[in-house]
Amino acid sequence: MSEIQVWPEGVEVPFEPEVNLLEMLVDADIPIAHLCGGRARCSTCRVFVEDGLSKLSERTVEEVAMATKLDLPDEVRLACQTTLLGSVSLRRLVLDKTDEMLASQLGRPALVGPVGREAHVAVLFADVVGYTKMSDALPPYDIVHLLNRFFSRTRDVIETNSGVIDNYMGDAVLALFGLHGEPEPALSAVRSGLGVLEVAGELTRYIERIYGMSFGVRVGVDFGEVIFGLIGAGEAARETVIGDTVNVASRLESANKETGSAMLVSDAIYERTHHEVTFGRRHELDLRGKVGRVVAHEVIAVANPSDPRPGA
Ligand code: FES
Repeated sequence: MSEIQVWPEGVEVPFEPEVNLLEMLVDADIPIAHLCGGRARCSTCRVFVEDGLSKLSERTVEEVAMATKLDLPDEVRLACQTTLLGSVSLRRLVLDKTDEMLASQLGRPALVGPVGREAHVAVLFADVVGYTKMSDALPPYDIVHLLNRFFSRTRDVIETNSGVIDNYMGDAVLALFGLHGEPEPALSAVRSGLGVLEVAGELTRYIERIYGMSFGVRVGVDFGEVIFGLIGAGEAARETVIGDTVNVASRLESANKETGSAMLVSDAIYERTHHEVTFGRRHELDLRGKVGRVVAHEVIAVANPSDPRPGA
């Protein structure tokens, strides 16, 4: 009797003729990403065929187009476009807990706080480097997959450090620390920033392996007053924070480009954390929208960094 062996678990899935591979895996509760819903508009359902390549159906026209665009080798197939003629052994793209969680679409943004309230918080702004180049080269569904993977791991880091996600803006994330009176919000934000950079390093290895591309992140952090506002109209309105502190964190993130650094923090953060944090170069920067020069500090390391791994 024919069967499908699925790695890395090594589980066996019963074979059904005429049913596509994605459906068979989903029916067998194998967590496999399929962001476009099986329409060959992404490559997140891809599998690597380790044995039995001749038992797979020919590529569909749609799969040929995607395989050509992404330069996929013969052994990498889109599960949703493939039916089987006999036994195969394959390895799926969904390889770890993060992917499993994304495949089951469990991620939800955190809730922030009441509209109209003012608060003094640390604001962290993190943005993906080279996003435009990446989105030119990859299908939009794959970009969604990668961004959600980044956001999911980033959320783990931020919540481990008592922060909350306020907002996602395209490829950027905005997080707040000290919203509910948690101690040392500036230090928590710095720890998170370093954790986010560590996540980016791990993700680079994943993206290089799957897509042959690099990945990076820049971080900016400031401390000060923010105001919760309801931005937008009607059903589309959403709660977020606004204020100069948010703008400075965002501008510091961008300024990493000119300073050649990965993480810059304001003087307000420096003053609150220098007892625990090792800083690198100090810069005086012209930030867009700010009068006068703004002092920024590069972050090198922090004492007792938190481990960003979930459950660690
Ligand atoms: S689910 Fe998108 S290509 Fe298969």
